[in-house]
Amino acid sequence: MTQTASDTAPAGAPSGTPLLQLEGIRKRFGAVEVLRGVDLTLRSGQVTALVGDNGAGKSTLIKAVAGIYTIDDGRMLWEGRHVTVHNPKDAAALGIEVVYQDLALADNLDVVQNMFLGRERRRGLLLDEDSMEKSAGETLASLQVTTVRSVRQPVASLSGGQRQSVAVAKAVMWNSKLVILDEPTAALGVSQTRQVLDLVKRLGERGLAVLIVSHNLNDVFEVADRIAVLRLGEMVADVARGDVDSQSVVELMTTGRSDRLTADGPAPTSSAASREDA
Ligand SMILES: Nc1ncnc2c1ncn2[C@@H]1O[C@H](COP(=O)(O)OP(=O)(O)O)[C@@H](O)[C@H]1O
Ligand SMILES: [Mg+2]
Repeated sequence: MTQTASDTAPAGAPSGTPLLQLEGIRKRFGAVEVLRGVDLTLRSGQVTALVGDNGAGKSTLIKAVAGIYTIDDGRMLWEGRHVTVHNPKDAAALGIEVVYQDLALADNLDVVQNMFLGRERRRGLLLDEDSMEKSAGETLASLQVTTVRSVRQPVASLSGGQRQSVAVAKAVMWNSKLVILDEPTAALGVSQTRQVLDLVKRLGERGLAVLIVSHNLNDVFEVADRIAVLRLGEMVADVARGDVDSQSVVELMTTGRSDRLTADGPAPTSSAASREDA
């Protein structure tokens, strides 16, 4: 990871500085440009929902931030400093944790083992099981995840909602600053979705930045402080939840514009909106 500005930047970012700023992110797969100059600003304590039709580039954008894909162009600023994330380890070192829909956890391991996977605590030559078990339990309790009966049960025995909760708790336990969730409720029933959405809200209240991809606009309007709309690889809006309704979000997703937004609502801060006006 290179932090080109880190030598000159002051220690501890000023409070007004966004946690993460993406500027002009481009990514192509062969001849297809999947991300076409995407800007996005994420702040600590805010939940941002990333919405867009299938194929809009949401997962690609997340994977770029997570260091799974290398971007072709654009800049990433983390706490105001220019960073280059080459791989998931770089992302984790910054404090970025991604919860994927399916790959989040290892089925055959228990909750504690999953939460400490690859970062086990040791005491001499042995694993410090007591201490890990205690921390895992405390983290789950602090997030009010109460439905997981035992932290020693294998993850395979958990419901989908519980699995997502454990994956999120893992991110919290490792002091992540940004938690990204890609369609966390897609496979969940009503009450499990409830659990995960409550948890997402709590992460924001704890001061973490959250980026959540969701198809469900009801969910989006319930948890998000901001809504970012990606369409065909371009960010067509990045607005406060209160400035849009679900119909205008659908319009933005499908056509890239919403007259309701520009006519009635406050002007969006979106770069795409200003590009359109230019
Ligand atoms: N690894 C890849 N190789 C080639 N094309 C890809 C790859 N990943 C995604 N794409 C293409 O990029 C576009 C955006 O995909 P994706 O980011 O998964 O969209 P979303 O998550 O918004 O549904 C799609 O057209 C998809 O087919
Ligand atoms: Mg996707």
